[in-house]
Amino acid sequence: MIEEAMLHITGMGVTYPNGVQALKPITLAFRPGEFVVLLGRSGAGKSTLLRCLNGLVAPTEGEVRVDGLGRLSEPGVLRHHRRRTGMVFQHHHLIGRLAALSNVLTGRLGYHSPWRTLLPLPRADRLVALECLDHVGLKDRALTRVDELSGGQRQRVGVARALAQEPALILADEPVASLDPESAAEVLKQLRDICTADGIAAVVSLHQVDLARRFADRIVGMANGSVVAEVASGELSKALVDEIYRAPAAPAPSPAVSRIRPGPAVSAQAKLPGENPKAKKPGVLIP
Ligand SMILES: Nc1ncnc2c1ncn2[C@@H]1O[C@H](COP(=O)(O)OP(=O)(O)OP(=O)(O)O)[C@@H](O)[C@H]1O
Ligand SMILES: [Mg+2]
Repeated sequence: MIEEAMLHITGMGVTYPNGVQALKPITLAFRPGEFVVLLGRSGAGKSTLLRCLNGLVAPTEGEVRVDGLGRLSEPGVLRHHRRRTGMVFQHHHLIGRLAALSNVLTGRLGYHSPWRTLLPLPRADRLVALECLDHVGLKDRALTRVDELSGGQRQRVGVARALAQEPALILADEPVASLDPESAAEVLKQLRDICTADGIAAVVSLHQVDLARRFADRIVGMANGSVVAEVASGELSKALVDEIYRAPAAPAPSPAVSRIRPGPAVSAQAKLPGENPKAKKPGVLIP
């Protein structure tokens, strides 16, 4: 376990109610300011892992612990954690008929009580939202309806909305999947630079290996619900990429993987000694 990490997952596994074991027990940690990319074939478990980090799926084994807050399963912790966690989606989930600024402002709602959100948000929140749009180079489009923006610009509004939460953590599930290669690189670069500068931990799932190499600090390779690689991006060899995408039925580390794992100063993936977490109620989904 790394001391400076802000988020720890320990022996965490997920079996969905239909019996699919989407995640076998994994142990990982994420540091402030670190840009971590999850790679893996379709069905490898990337989205499930991301959902566990935001409490959208409750692990059926093991735990997620947030530094300074405690375990996500403890009362009250999830609410605080979610407020500090920005989400960026493939389909940005913006409201097309509203201006970019109004969409970004929704990132501030978690800072207000439900009744207060019925009224226009305070000027201070509007300033934060505007600053976030400025961060992603869209201040001059603040009053433009989102459905009049390009795909890349919309995705940047999505990033700005996540930043408006003043997050400690950003989770992004295939945030650039629907963009052309150039816009994808641009959006990822912006996201990475902001996270690095502001000390925000980022966990991002991608299907593009080249983008992972270019922008990640660390790459976590997944296959069949297990972590099969955990390396600094410069160490992602062809053999390792093959290992991640070959996705054998029962993944066994190849010599190339064994040489590299566990990654430098990051937690080992192996199940913890003596660990035999009791299966909880399977697949309890948190609404
Ligand atoms: N809500 C669910 N209920 C049951 N099974 C699920 C559910 N969500 C995902 N799964 C299954 O869990 C496994 C992992 O799915 P997951 O969505 O995490 O993969 P992924 O790596 O994100 O794939 P992709 O790259 O296609 O998005 C798959 O076998 C999938 O069918
Ligand atoms: Mg997915």
